[in-house]
Amino acid sequence: MVRWDCDGGVLLVGCLILSVLELCSSGITSAYVRNDDLSLDMPIDSDVFRVPPGYNAPQQVHITQGDHEGKGVIVSWVTPDEPGSSTVLYWAENSQLKSRADGFIRTYKYVNYTSGYIHHCTINNLEFDTKYYYEVGIGNTTRQFWFRTPPSVGPDVPYTFGLIGDLGQTHDSNRTLTHYELNPTKGQMVLFVGDLSYADDYPLHDNNRWDTWGRFIERNAAYQPWVWTAGNHEIDYAPELGETTPFKPYTNRYHVPYEASDSTSPFWYSIKRASAYIIVMSSYTAFGKYTPQYKWLVKELPRVNRTETPWLIVFMHCPLYSSYVHHYMEGETMRVIYEQWFVEYKVDVVFAGHVHAYERSERFSNIAYNVVNGLCTPISDQSAPVYITIGDGGNLEGLVTNMTEPQPSYSAYREASFGHGILDIKNRTHAYFGWHRNQDGYAVEADSVWLANRYWYPSETSSVAAI
Ligand SMILES: [Fe+2]
Repeated sequence: MVRWDCDGGVLLVGCLILSVLELCSSGITSAYVRNDDLSLDMPIDSDVFRVPPGYNAPQQVHITQGDHEGKGVIVSWVTPDEPGSSTVLYWAENSQLKSRADGFIRTYKYVNYTSGYIHHCTINNLEFDTKYYYEVGIGNTTRQFWFRTPPSVGPDVPYTFGLIGDLGQTHDSNRTLTHYELNPTKGQMVLFVGDLSYADDYPLHDNNRWDTWGRFIERNAAYQPWVWTAGNHEIDYAPELGETTPFKPYTNRYHVPYEASDSTSPFWYSIKRASAYIIVMSSYTAFGKYTPQYKWLVKELPRVNRTETPWLIVFMHCPLYSSYVHHYMEGETMRVIYEQWFVEYKVDVVFAGHVHAYERSERFSNIAYNVVNGLCTPISDQSAPVYITIGDGGNLEGLVTNMTEPQPSYSAYREASFGHGILDIKNRTHAYFGWHRNQDGYAVEADSVWLANRYWYPSETSSVAAI
């Protein structure tokens, strides 16, 4: 029998208050129990790596944004037997009039590997919000695909981004991509936070694994643009093998529209997409003061017009905030240099990968330290971005599970499971972010948060309270 006396009631209420306070003041380390078997890469003869039939048939077809506004598309593909044509034929849905764009070919050698013929073709001046069909392989085996251009850039244009990182080509990678494809909230463009094929984990950095990866992602990347940043697995710097040109396979295979944002390098650039302004940074090219990347960002941030594109999104490979043991503080130098700007310019969210797990931060900053004042602890800061680590695509290196304890106050939610994210922008004030774990049903969100825009809705006091 439960006896309710006065003291017991006070104690109970006291405990409840303490529990609520505890919930409010600390983040969540998920108790989800996962199968931690290391997943191997899918065998070379897996159906997801199938070579399309026909002589010189285009393979590894993928698209990315081709200009600054979203009216351009870069189409890339590989032909295996001979160079063939770099022309893309394209036409709007409901139109019989075919247009053509002409591209160019790249090849490269890496140790004992010689690439196929890598085609890149930029299509410009498309109509916004229009479905286009396109055809590659002109003159030999042709293949047709389609994409939809984004709506015209504007402050209240809804748009849905997928977030995938550190994907690799294991069975888990396939689960991640499948879950993204079957998510009832349909992503319209993937922001890929680096570490693509993991070919460099193989002897001699077996570049055939770059080809299998290209064939694996084609089923999605040929139909919606993937936006790239380079991770450490793209560096492929191997002087012991005679390979001294960093990023050689990556830069030959994955082109980006960097010149459209006055960048001088494919490793850092920006695009506009609907109501979002997306800045891509590189963790693995120089970013210290006076470097080209630094000088570009100095000019770039003031150019962002939040009346036109309210949502300011930054992504790079190495996270600036991560409370996992593995890769701990690897992003610290970049944080020290750039975090102040992210706060000053009210960046809404910073995505990164690298750590093979998921983590979401509260709005925190750590920009007060000046060597002598001792102010080196992250503090709650409503002008700061939310930092989301989404390096949980599912590569052959497996998950990282060791976390720093206790959970730092900036860390809102962390869990070592594979999955993907969806950033669903509703209008200029609100966006919804959901994280989807591979073990769950396609519609299930293991973590989610409403994001209030830092420029248009800065009064929101807590990302958790906003749920
Ligand atoms: Fe990485």
